Amino acid sequence: MTTAINNMLRVFPNSMPMSLSFDAPDEQATEALGTALAGALPDGAVVALCGELGAGKTRLVQAVAAAEGIDRREVVSPTFVLVHEYHGRRTLYHFDAYRLRDEDEFLALGPDEYFEGGGLSFVEWADRVAGCLPRERVEIRIKPTGPASRRFEVEAIGRRYAEVVLNLRRRLEHTPKH
Ligand SMILES: Nc1ncnc2c1ncn2[C@@H]1O[C@H](COP(=O)(O)OP(=O)(O)OP(=O)(O)O)[C@@H](O)[C@H]1O
Ligand SMILES: [Mg+2]
Repeated sequence: MTTAINNMLRVFPNSMPMSLSFDAPDEQATEALGTALAGALPDGAVVALCGELGAGKTRLVQAVAAAEGIDRREVVSPTFVLVHEYHGRRTLYHFDAYRLRDEDEFLALGPDEYFEGGGLSFVEWADRVAGCLPRERVEIRIKPTGPASRRFEVEAIGRRYAEVVLNLRRRLEHTPKH
């Protein structure tokens, strides 16, 4: 494990649900997080993304998409269509709740059909539709800590995802510094 990546990663192994904090000093580190996340997420995983405008929610989805063999240029915030679908090694469903009036508008999209399929689902502004998300999920809160640096707080909600966050932690520990 490189010292640099190790320094970015803080894990809270005794906290339940399982969580970790990853300090990305630059976009390359966010890219590495996305690659590790793609490797750790099982088919059918649901990831709730929270963070202000420009925090890096879409940027992280771009990194996961690239790791799944999808052209990252396809990946933009689905603010107006509410859900985008990208096809790679696995299918990504990319939701954005920013412009929704209420949770009913989100439910009208039939999100459970996406969540229960074999693809990976990402929901930007997930806190706005918290009541519509599956009980078990990964939550990622992104906080800008500088112009190019971000803190990612990753939390497993549910036992199934505790394993996923542990797996993510192992992958990050083995990520070489660029
Ligand atoms: N370390 C970093 N990680 C992620 N993004 C970064 C980082 N450093 C700089 N950025 C920049 O921050 C911006 C993040 O934009 P992005 O579209 O991902 O935000 P968002 O959270 O999806 O916002 P919105 O709610 O408007 O959809 C991009 O312009 C990206 O280049
Ligand atoms: Mg976005």
